[in-house]
Amino acid sequence: MIVARCRAELAEGLASLGAAGRRVGLVPTMGFLHEGHLSLVDLAKEHASAAAVSIFVNPTQFGPTEDLASYPRDADRDLALLEKRGADLVFMPPVSEVYVDGDPRITVDPGPLGGRLCGAKRPGHFRGVLTVVAKLFGLFQPDVAVFGRKDFQQIALIERMVRELDFRVRIVGGPIMREQDGLAMSSRNTYLSAQERKAAPAIQEGLAAAAARFDFGERRAWALIEEVQREMKEQSLLRLEYAEVVDRKTLEPVESVPTGAVLAVAAFCGKTRLIDNVTLE
Ligand code: PAF
Repeated sequence: MIVARCRAELAEGLASLGAAGRRVGLVPTMGFLHEGHLSLVDLAKEHASAAAVSIFVNPTQFGPTEDLASYPRDADRDLALLEKRGADLVFMPPVSEVYVDGDPRITVDPGPLGGRLCGAKRPGHFRGVLTVVAKLFGLFQPDVAVFGRKDFQQIALIERMVRELDFRVRIVGGPIMREQDGLAMSSRNTYLSAQERKAAPAIQEGLAAAAARFDFGERRAWALIEEVQREMKEQSLLRLEYAEVVDRKTLEPVESVPTGAVLAVAAFCGKTRLIDNVTLE
């Protein structure tokens, strides 16, 4: 596995993959990897012939009061996991290698979709995400890029950016990976206390209850949202930030739910913000 810590090493690594006729599947991450990330490495290998992973805690997507400083990091563990999973190249640059001129003056505007759902609660977040993803596309020139579907709004915005800005990359979405009790895997789950960890699966239970009602023919969005609220009320440590049923492409809320709409949720469990979603089909 090639480990690149600066742009020059990345270019060298990519050139050697290219010389061997390998097509690059990029998995952008912020590290502290779990099975969710590793399953994306498998997908990258399936859709391209080499899996390249970036590990970069991107400062521009964190708000001033968010967890940039405390975001979990363990580079050695990440490298060992990636080596074992068969990744071909890992790029783990310092901030100065990505933002060579300091804070970027030219950024990618996510447009109105960036102000919906999580974007309404985290101003500037998706501008930071799209900007760094655009930079990674520039640096890697990947054939394919793989993102997890837990960050449903993120992948919707990236797909749109690729289409509207004509990036030559194919976006592949990976399924949400869950712990045994249903909690969606996330690096931020490590913030949860034992008690919070017990409460957190109620988010997924609410989504599952809503999906079951959808299966039984319920098409009123408010009734599905009520299922999520009901499950979460059982847990005093959980505070719902939003639950919305939206069109998967426009992210606009729907009242009468068509097949393929997404029920998306964000909730605080103690101080930790968790997100999850289910596609209703
Ligand atoms: O999903 C993430 O981990 C990040 O938002 C991403 C896509 C790596 C950009 O920093």
